[in-house]
Amino acid sequence: MRPEEADRVAELIFESTNHWYETSGYPRIFQGDWKVCRIFTDVYGDLDPGCCLIAISGQDTIIGSCFYHPRQTHISLGIMNTHPAIGRKGVAKALLKSIIEISDDLSVPLRLVSSAFNLDSYSLYTRHGMAPFALYQDMMLSVPNSGIPVNEVDGVSFREATLEDVDQIDSLEQAVWRTSRKKDWAYFIENKRGVWHITIATNSEREVVGCLASVYHPGSNVLGPGIAKSADIATALIQSELNQHRGTHPVYMVPAHNKQLVSAMYEMGARNCELHVGQILGNAPPIIGVVMPTFMPETA
Ligand SMILES: CC(C)(COP(=O)(O)OP(=O)(O)OC[C@H]1O[C@@H](n2cnc3c(N)ncnc32)[C@H](O)[C@@H]1OP(=O)(O)O)[C@@H](O)C(=O)NCCC(=O)NCCS
Repeated sequence: MRPEEADRVAELIFESTNHWYETSGYPRIFQGDWKVCRIFTDVYGDLDPGCCLIAISGQDTIIGSCFYHPRQTHISLGIMNTHPAIGRKGVAKALLKSIIEISDDLSVPLRLVSSAFNLDSYSLYTRHGMAPFALYQDMMLSVPNSGIPVNEVDGVSFREATLEDVDQIDSLEQAVWRTSRKKDWAYFIENKRGVWHITIATNSEREVVGCLASVYHPGSNVLGPGIAKSADIATALIQSELNQHRGTHPVYMVPAHNKQLVSAMYEMGARNCELHVGQILGNAPPIIGVVMPTFMPETA
């Protein structure tokens, strides 16, 4: 994708994703008009310029697009879309194969989160050798204007992250799931587009023991990515970040196997709205602690 094609790719993301939700019996996921999807091309363009492949039909009609995010430890595959009028003709397979070649060349695993409700996308990836390694519950909570209480965690303090925290966040992330993506954390903290917030948890030795970002934009009201040493730290991080979104109902993915975290979310009144599967081509990292992926940018 060239920069001047970003509007047309945003339009494709809007049409293609809404089409899937509507024809599957769910409400549209993107409201308003296609311009809300410029958040994808803008943020992904900031983070990974040139890392979007498009499929062109005829002279100049964009019929498919897929973003990817190369990182030190892996490549994440971002939002993949084919125009609804051209489904099942091999467009997504061709885009995926090209990105698999890139991850092969770099000798790093390819990762993504795919909706467990969407067999088209789940199957597309598993047909190409990817395998599920984690299940996430997409949860939603309507945050009252007055906010929600934040649990206390013994010996742990919570505050807004600064750029000086990035090295420690990275060390924690490597310990939790052998993942490194320092530039993403720095990007959220710098917040040049004015849509991010990030809360950090530190212990009594001032070591980072958890971190959770969130984005607020008409095209994406999501908590994540996040990492934490334990479920109680993750719970308090989620509560803190939800309070940044009072009067709205953000979505966030929590690991389905983490009973303590899932129970804490139910106690807060959160409801499940979708399920996502973390998939990988390559060896799955062991997860020691809590990982919360997001779609902005894709971080499975
Ligand atoms: C998912 C999506 C990208 C697929 O695009 P597409 O161009 O229609 O897909 P392709 O024709 O390249 O490939 C689909 C392949 O998936 C596999 N597949 C799909 N459904 C399958 C099923 N039920 N069982 C097994 N394999 C299946 C097949 O290999 C199929 O190719 P084949 O029929 O030739 O064997 C498209 O439907 C889309 O844009 N959906 C809306 C947005 C979305 O959900 N994006 C994914 C977010 S991660």
